[in-house]
Amino acid sequence: MSYKAILVNVEAGVGCVQFNRPEALNALSRQLMTELVAALREFTADSEVRCILITGNDKAFAAGADIKEMMEAGAVDMYLGGFSALWDAVYEVKKPLIAAVSGYAFGGGCELAMICDIIVASETAQFGQPEINIGGIPGAGGTQRLTRAVGKSLAMDMVLSGRRITAQEALATGLVSRVVPVEALLAEAMKLAKEIAVKSPVALQLAKEAILESFESPLSAGVRVERTLSHLTFATDDQKEGMRAFSEKRKPFFKGK
Ligand code: HXC
Repeated sequence: MSYKAILVNVEAGVGCVQFNRPEALNALSRQLMTELVAALREFTADSEVRCILITGNDKAFAAGADIKEMMEAGAVDMYLGGFSALWDAVYEVKKPLIAAVSGYAFGGGCELAMICDIIVASETAQFGQPEINIGGIPGAGGTQRLTRAVGKSLAMDMVLSGRRITAQEALATGLVSRVVPVEALLAEAMKLAKEIAVKSPVALQLAKEAILESFESPLSAGVRVERTLSHLTFATDDQKEGMRAFSEKRKPFFKGK
């Protein structure tokens, strides 16, 4: 499939999507989101792809949903329009998703990064939910995922005042897992993605599912889910290969079965 608002490539088991609307600071238009979801579905169907990287450019990961596209929409247009379903479709992706964020990650851009499993930030990254400045509130999970990531007080501070936080603040609160110099961002994020891509794809998906369950369940129920998924790994060739390779003092080769 050919794309206009994103650039797509696959390298060493990593499927990469780069937003490509620099003139609008990668504002997440309907077209961009539709193309993103189509690319993620292609990656899902491609067994060569074992980890997915989503990025923008140095200036902006994404400055939010496209305000100009939404400004005249009514509530019913928003409700029936299917835009929200595109965000849900990103959440439904089973393969690991890494967001490599430089510059602005605002509004829907911050929300999209938070749907990803890991956020790697450059030193210039800024995170914010500034919808309050334009008379709105987050609508793609921001009030929920930001609060879980950074806690109530900072989430309220950001959502109610429109305050932006820096990469270092994001690291301190656990919103991102690493901060690297801007010129090293893609290389570092790719390195991480490639490290993940050589693991057992079944185990990766089970591990992701188990961690995401922690946001949905009480502790004891989450632990039960984890146990079941953990036991399920014992049904895979990859688990046998992994444990045999350990005892034979060699590197494992995971086939994804
Ligand atoms: C559409 C946008 C945009 C956006 C920037 N642009 N953000 N277009 N939607 N979210 C466009 C500008 O209109 C401008 O186009 C060009 O990108 C460059 O932006 P500037 O404002 O000139 O750049 P700068 O001065 O560097 O300021 C950067 C900025 C500012 C601080 C990020 O652009 C900004 O505040 N953007 C809006 C951020 C925001 O409110 N995001 C939340 C959106 S609502 P022209 O044509 O003038 O050059 C949302 C809700 C999600 O995300 C809910 C989903 C259901």
